[in-house]
Amino acid sequence: MEFSLNTKILELNSFKNFYDTFTLTNEDLILTNEFIYNPYLKSFNLPCHIIFLEKYGSGEPTDTMINSILKEIKNKNITRIIAIGGGSILDIGKILALDSKDNTANLFLKNVEPKKNKALLAIPTTCGTGSEVTNISVAFLEKENIKLGLAHKELFPDYAILIPEFLETLPEKFFFTSSIDALIHGIESFLSPKGTFHSDIFSRKGIELLVGGFKTLQLKGINFRFSILKDFLRGSNLTGISFGNAGCGAVHALSYPLGGRFHIPHGESNSLLLISTLRKYKEKKPHGKINELENILSSILNVPSENSIEELEKLIESLFPKKSISDYGISKDIFLEFAEEVLEKQQRLLNNNYTSLTKEDIINIYYNI
Ligand SMILES: [Fe+2]
Repeated sequence: MEFSLNTKILELNSFKNFYDTFTLTNEDLILTNEFIYNPYLKSFNLPCHIIFLEKYGSGEPTDTMINSILKEIKNKNITRIIAIGGGSILDIGKILALDSKDNTANLFLKNVEPKKNKALLAIPTTCGTGSEVTNISVAFLEKENIKLGLAHKELFPDYAILIPEFLETLPEKFFFTSSIDALIHGIESFLSPKGTFHSDIFSRKGIELLVGGFKTLQLKGINFRFSILKDFLRGSNLTGISFGNAGCGAVHALSYPLGGRFHIPHGESNSLLLISTLRKYKEKKPHGKINELENILSSILNVPSENSIEELEKLIESLFPKKSISDYGISKDIFLEFAEEVLEKQQRLLNNNYTSLTKEDIINIYYNI
């Protein structure tokens, strides 16, 4: 089993430190949002090209959005992409760093081989995706009406730069959904059959930082997050490294139809599915790595191992109560269709499951959200 870390990781205190460390020129392109640029970057009068993602569309990345940006930068001499933002911006940055024309759908459909021709610096402003250290990009292909992930070594950022001050603007809801997503990366990669001794170290430490952070916020209140942002940023980075190696599984796979068809944000749809999936795993294969996970949770939450999944659910629920599936306009009649789509399209993720799941199991997980 192989473990690799392909991205250099740098922790800096502020954008000013970044500015002093990396000399920016007119060959740099910064992809970000205006709400990040205005408070943190604007005063530096940067000499580089700046693109605000929101000018090209909202929500999760689509091939149309990416194609429009590619068209915009086509005739510019850009040698370095600096992506400062959440998962969408980092994922799009990975595509912009490729020698791609305007054929984004072809990349995701694997009709063309990705080839990187620019350096990529990834600066996350959420504590969730781990995208700054992975080789995965996800986009919704409009013509094909499907959300697909592309995993390729050419997508690894050259640098992941962790700057906690960027997390200060993250609204409470996004703080939770992104950090729960990060926790799920740690849990899924820990349970993945592709997990190794080394990836497990990253999963464990990431889970400790994130669940420990949630526990602290439950005790001290949500505003205390501003004092422990670095823990969440590090936790998300560590679980990004572990899932970049061992992969994510059923939670992410089952979340695709919720995101793709009902546009529920990634972290939110994953958090709907986490506990239901863990309960199904426990029912189907009660003994194995899941017991080690229970032990990790048990020592962080200070509860008996056999209660740890239930206690994790209570902890998450106390900070970020789940909505019911009908609140999203989803009828339970569609679960069979979801399960068939997942089995047909998400084998890449299902291969990383703790134990194999049948169509009935998957339907059952959706029912028990
Ligand atoms: Fe995720």
